[in-house]
Amino acid sequence: MRFRNLADAEVKGKRVLVRVDLNVPMRDGQVADATRIAEIVPTITALADKGGKVILLSHLDRPRGRDPQFSLRPVAAEVARIVQRPVAFAEDCIGPQAEAAIAAMREGDILCLENTRFHPEEEKRDVTFARKLAALGDIFVDDAFSVAHRAHAANTAIVTVSDLPAYPGFAMQAELDALNNAFETPEHPVAAIVGGAKISTKLELLGHLLAKVETLIIGGGMANTFLAAQGKPIGKSLCEHNLVPNARDILAKAKSLNREVVLPVDAVVAQKFAEHAPSRVVPVEDVGPTDMILDIGPRTVEYVVSVLARTKTLVWNGPFGAFEFEPFDNGTVEVAEAVAELTEAGRLVSFAGGGDTVAALNAASVTSRLTHVSTGGGAFLESLEGRTLPGVQVLLLSETPAAPRR
Ligand code: 3PG
Ligand code: MG
Repeated sequence: MRFRNLADAEVKGKRVLVRVDLNVPMRDGQVADATRIAEIVPTITALADKGGKVILLSHLDRPRGRDPQFSLRPVAAEVARIVQRPVAFAEDCIGPQAEAAIAAMREGDILCLENTRFHPEEEKRDVTFARKLAALGDIFVDDAFSVAHRAHAANTAIVTVSDLPAYPGFAMQAELDALNNAFETPEHPVAAIVGGAKISTKLELLGHLLAKVETLIIGGGMANTFLAAQGKPIGKSLCEHNLVPNARDILAKAKSLNREVVLPVDAVVAQKFAEHAPSRVVPVEDVGPTDMILDIGPRTVEYVVSVLARTKTLVWNGPFGAFEFEPFDNGTVEVAEAVAELTEAGRLVSFAGGGDTVAALNAASVTSRLTHVSTGGGAFLESLEGRTLPGVQVLLLSETPAAPRR
């Protein structure tokens, strides 16, 4: 796979549209985890130092149309704090406000445009919308690996409908290099931990992963749907009831492929979803009608760690419990500790990715002890399947160099 090299780009005086992933975890209107911002600093500062006009393009969350709750303004302020330079803000990503803000830029300035998803055309990969975005710049740089699995206007159509030269940013390039090295020939047995709240966005992925890994470890809210599929009581726990048949199919496929599926054997349950909610540990067979499962229990932690001890390569996406609320981060933190120790002992090659996963690993202070931590969630997992992501595809230069002119 060949890409343009950003280090060679002529950017002085040019309007550089930089697609970044500022879809960071938020809490009370503030950035709760700035990992994705830290990753894009080298690209932003290099472009600004070379005299480019750096225009940041990003989505935040999944708003339905314009909604101030999902404004990128507080995120832009956090970018400014981290890059230690002023970052201007425009209240729209296209149209007169964006155009005026860009017209006012000087070389080396940084501007953040408002949430691209305030326009439904973004997710529809609308051609007219993509042309309007493209018209704002002279060069396109994509430093948003974590959204490369989405074929949306601001990361794919913006390139295909325009003549903008497209470059991977430094963070994107580093992710592609690491994933290439890691997933081409993993050492077996391979295990995947898939956790987090939603099964809906990961269901297909689970099926694909079954072909790649010896063991699938399922945690987080999505494990509840699997427990329900096995006929276990889950009380008032988060569960996507409409997906129970799909969960059943996954379990059947695992069985026919002779794959091991690890599900929680015990759970930490509480009556409400809140910090320090009074809780108790029960076997998964004994979850009561008003209980909510908020974490894995100690027997499940032991079980998972024993599986990891006989694993050579681990890919991890998604926390085991409601890790944002103490003490329901315990299960995730304890498994993370074990992964870090096995990695340091040279017994495990560990890859993790995903916004929440990274936040959980940071909270457990183990991020730097794993082999590679990606900023990507879905992008990370889909790369694992060996797919070329749409956001990466548009950056590719053709493999065959053009025939020399005579
Ligand atoms: C992510 O956080 O996974 C990316 O920013 C993509 O966001 P999405 O899952 O809402 O498309
Ligand atoms: Mg996502």
